[in-house]
Amino acid sequence: MVQAKVDQGASDRAAALRELIRHHAERYYGLDDPEIPDADYDALVMELRELERQHPYLAAPDSPTSTVGGSPSALFAPVRHRVPMMSLDNAFSLEELSAWMERMERIAPGVTSTSFVCEPKIDGAAMSISYLDGAYTQAATRGDGMTGEDVTANVATLRVIPKRLEPDTQRLPVPTRIEVRGEVYMPLSSFSELNRRQAEAGERIFANPRNSAAGSLRQRDSSVTASRDLAFWAYQVGEVDGGADLHRHSDALEMLRALGLPVNPEIRVVNGVDEVFAYCAKWQEHRHDLDYEIDGVVVKVDDLDIQQRLGSTSRAPRWAIAYKFPPEERTTKLLGIEVSIGRTGRATPFAVLEPVVVSGSTVSRATLHNEEQVAAKDVRIGDTVIVRKAGDVIPEVLGPVLADRPSAALPWTFPTRCLSCDGPLVRLPGESETFCGNLDCPAQRVERIVHFASRGAMDIEGLGDKRVRQFVESGLLGDPGDLYALDAPSLLGVERLADLSVENLLRAIQGSKQQPLSRLLVGIGIRHLGPAGARALARALGDLDGILAADAAMLSAIEGIGPVIADSIVKFFESPSNAAVMTKLRSAGVQLSEPGVQLSEPGVPSGETFSRRMEGRSVVVTGTLDGYSRDEARDAILARGGKFPGSVSAKTWAVVVGREPGETKLRKAEELGLPILDESGFERLLETGTLPDSPVS
Ligand code: IVH
Repeated sequence: MVQAKVDQGASDRAAALRELIRHHAERYYGLDDPEIPDADYDALVMELRELERQHPYLAAPDSPTSTVGGSPSALFAPVRHRVPMMSLDNAFSLEELSAWMERMERIAPGVTSTSFVCEPKIDGAAMSISYLDGAYTQAATRGDGMTGEDVTANVATLRVIPKRLEPDTQRLPVPTRIEVRGEVYMPLSSFSELNRRQAEAGERIFANPRNSAAGSLRQRDSSVTASRDLAFWAYQVGEVDGGADLHRHSDALEMLRALGLPVNPEIRVVNGVDEVFAYCAKWQEHRHDLDYEIDGVVVKVDDLDIQQRLGSTSRAPRWAIAYKFPPEERTTKLLGIEVSIGRTGRATPFAVLEPVVVSGSTVSRATLHNEEQVAAKDVRIGDTVIVRKAGDVIPEVLGPVLADRPSAALPWTFPTRCLSCDGPLVRLPGESETFCGNLDCPAQRVERIVHFASRGAMDIEGLGDKRVRQFVESGLLGDPGDLYALDAPSLLGVERLADLSVENLLRAIQGSKQQPLSRLLVGIGIRHLGPAGARALARALGDLDGILAADAAMLSAIEGIGPVIADSIVKFFESPSNAAVMTKLRSAGVQLSEPGVQLSEPGVPSGETFSRRMEGRSVVVTGTLDGYSRDEARDAILARGGKFPGSVSAKTWAVVVGREPGETKLRKAEELGLPILDESGFERLLETGTLPDSPVS
């Protein structure tokens, strides 16, 4: 009796899961417009697979667990795949990867000590491309694995796809028939450019590069596909007649490359389990170094005889697996929306979330940017929302899953008063940002001091967020100028502060007095003025008095300082409260000049203008620079006529390497023998437009 009841529950759940999975598969494959993140879809399939495993009678041949992809649409003629296009089984952890290795080992003992081919798993659209006697004849989508859609005309517009296969210097004959499989994808740079154009034209914005690639392929008019800058990586040979004898998958890839097809240069042949793990770990860390999206690593047994021995299940080969990276998009509950106050008083709404692991870290807060964004996304408390955390980027709420909205959920309204000081929150007409205008607001005071002490400004170690809040709350600090009046007796009165940390903190504060003026200018937080602008200002005018003596016109004559920044500088020093802070800093003995700057005529801007000294030269910047945000580095290069591409190629003139650089970019630069510069080399480059004689390595 109990058994029957449980089974009924299982069978109801299986039916519900199948319906859900079919619905989402149609959104994903059929409409190129998914409602939920891939990870949520994978979780539904896993749940169903587990149910079918526990209750085998529930398994049906048409269950989404044993079929592949979506059904082909009526838009394109059907193409029957002569060799079915299979999917891949997934491993969501290194343990699952090990379990796959063990399964194979039971069928083909010794396999795990042979070689494997590790390939980035491209997040695009699977494509089958056929050549007859070397001529491009047909391209088809995967469809349900048996029948796909004929997209020959559309795929013909891809520049990277050869229309004729080249015999490779007599070494390899061109096969009489070959079906090449691979992934059509949209490079990230093309994706953002496309969405910018779509928005400008009031057209649909694509959720991600994969949807935009799939959507661009499934166009009636191939000139639309042609305008979309799609690319392709070949990763598998389907049917092949004639050509070279192939014994290994790596031979097949080599042949594809020799025939003129694009094969991903990051693919590696590795030996044994440990090297497979190392490859997976490396790309999990560096997935964002590439100009296309990858969502995992595909591991394939290299030896084709062993592949044969291992065979396939109904939907996937046993000799390959997709190691999936932790998802960067997940759904979770939106518990609340709160507003934080920054150092300039900007009020930023953020989501309070039911904690969820995204990109391997637990996220319980995510930015909602501003009032307009909350309204545009229409996220409501109680909603299930999609959260994204890509790389080091701040977690962000992408939008709600409307199908799951509770009926009582109401639109959110921006608060009218600051939670920290109860002052009014004001949004000026025509602006998207909201501000607390009260300069005495405790939340702003804390943020201003934290910013002053931060690494890119006065770099005071040990003075983080929590301590500053403690000091502001206990009345020890009101603004950055008060820092230099702190002493041991007052600090020792603060809860949980030991002798040693007081001593270290005071030493760090005193040490910061020697920071150059440009750092101080960053630290005091003049709106719009970043590190590069601050350096330009300090170098041009030499000291604080020079800056105070300059009017907006003189300031905007300095290269790197536009009229908006100039205006903001003048306003900053006119404010009595800022002037009071500057007086405290001056009397504390903080350095108010820029060491190494010699002024020919004190107080007069140097009048330097940037010649287009880097005209047409491409400079790639990778990693974090201390003195330049990414935008500032780009602007500095562009202002000199240079180019700022996202990836390294033979056309790159120089590569600037900061902290934690992208390994691929660095490796490629080394392979191509390009000049590699550190930050000081970059500064010289900006000044002179020429490369140093002996680049650092
Ligand atoms: S091999 C029988 N290699 O991932 C082997 N697939 O989740 C078939 N994919 O349908 C696929 N990069 O669309 C293979 N380097 C790669 C891949 C790759 C992306 C896609 C492909 C496949 C899906 C399976």
